[in-house]
Amino acid sequence: MANPSLLILPGDGIGPEVMAEVRKVIDWFGTQGRPFTVEEGLIGGASYDAFGTPLSDETLARAQAVDAVLLGAVGGPQYAGVDYALRPEAGLLRIRKEMDLFANLRPAQCFEALADFSSLKREVVSGLDIMIVRELTSGIYFGEPRGIHPDNAGGRVGINTQRYTTDEIRRVARSAFEMARRRGNRVCSMEKANVMESGILWREEVQWVHDNEYPDVELSHMYADNGAMQLVRNPRQFDVIVTDNLFGDLLSDAAAMLTGSLGMLPSASLGAPMANGRPKALYEPVHGSAPDIAGQGKANPIATILSLAMALRYSFDMGEEATRLERAVEQVLADGHRTADLMGPEGGTPLSTSAMGDAIVAALAR
Ligand code: NAD
Ligand code: IPM
Ligand code: MN
Repeated sequence: MANPSLLILPGDGIGPEVMAEVRKVIDWFGTQGRPFTVEEGLIGGASYDAFGTPLSDETLARAQAVDAVLLGAVGGPQYAGVDYALRPEAGLLRIRKEMDLFANLRPAQCFEALADFSSLKREVVSGLDIMIVRELTSGIYFGEPRGIHPDNAGGRVGINTQRYTTDEIRRVARSAFEMARRRGNRVCSMEKANVMESGILWREEVQWVHDNEYPDVELSHMYADNGAMQLVRNPRQFDVIVTDNLFGDLLSDAAAMLTGSLGMLPSASLGAPMANGRPKALYEPVHGSAPDIAGQGKANPIATILSLAMALRYSFDMGEEATRLERAVEQVLADGHRTADLMGPEGGTPLSTSAMGDAIVAALAR
């Protein structure tokens, strides 16, 4: 059988820095008799600089052909003046949309060694393990009409449209219920059914999927603003949260601080099953290109390394190796290894991005 194939798209800013550490982990698995066929490509600003577009058709075709895509991050202040459709972020949105990666799994887990690094109290976050399932290919990110137009009063109007169909809601709800069955068997759905029709439909359709297909899973509904508050008040009340594209973006960044740093959060964006039975998939950290620390060797590579662990589990049937990699991360944190984003108030000397990658590979080999 051919080696499993991976397309790596490092992107911009700290993307290439954290991806270099992922390559070390992939190479290590290669030495253990689990080789991957790895190709690289450009996305975001790097692609815009080279080809004048943030995602070329050729790169997209390669992404559609491999078993899984691994992405760093896109964006940077140097592209702020670029036409909206050619911005780095547009490349990311296009690859998600064209691959139809509708279910974005964003787990937030608090490693015991980091329980004191959260901005919340240890007793609130200790042992936290939640899964946010964010709808990723619809909603206000993609709804029409959209744009900036002149208005009738000599000014301008900016328009975006929140739009969800029955099918779009049902399929992401199924992903959440499936996930819940493998975890704590509870789903909390978040919307604003009190002010938005799309929220009313969301609530009704999630309830429909529950009643007709997953009556064994416990389902609750919450307004998303209360959800944001509950997430910082008592995050361990949740198991799986399912929500729309925009709310999911906000809630997952907030959830990052429950784990100690945005540099800790991985994600998996999954679509329909391919011929091999595995879902179409793209794995990426939740964080962005972090222009404020790019090029300084300060970035935490753990979010991206944990994204590889998710790829091993969901795309390559390598659950044991995924667990082994997650344990290696846990071990280096328990040993006191920290990148700059994980330095507590007492300070200390942080590890560089590359030294953190080396420590994780060394822990894997132990
Ligand atoms: P960001 O996530 O890049 O950074 C927010 C803060 O977190 C910064 O202070 C940064 O230094 C820190 N941070 C992020 N990742 C880190 C890591 N791995 N290690 C240590 N610290 C880390 O968000 P932003 O500053 O709002 O956006 C910067 C650019 O990234 C923008 O162009 C934005 O559109 C883009 N972005 C891309 C993605 C993506 O590619 N998936 C996600 C979010 C933002
Ligand atoms: C994320 C990012 C993206 C989003 C941007 C860069 C398009 O914030 O992946 O969370 O809003 O989805
Ligand atoms: Mn985001």
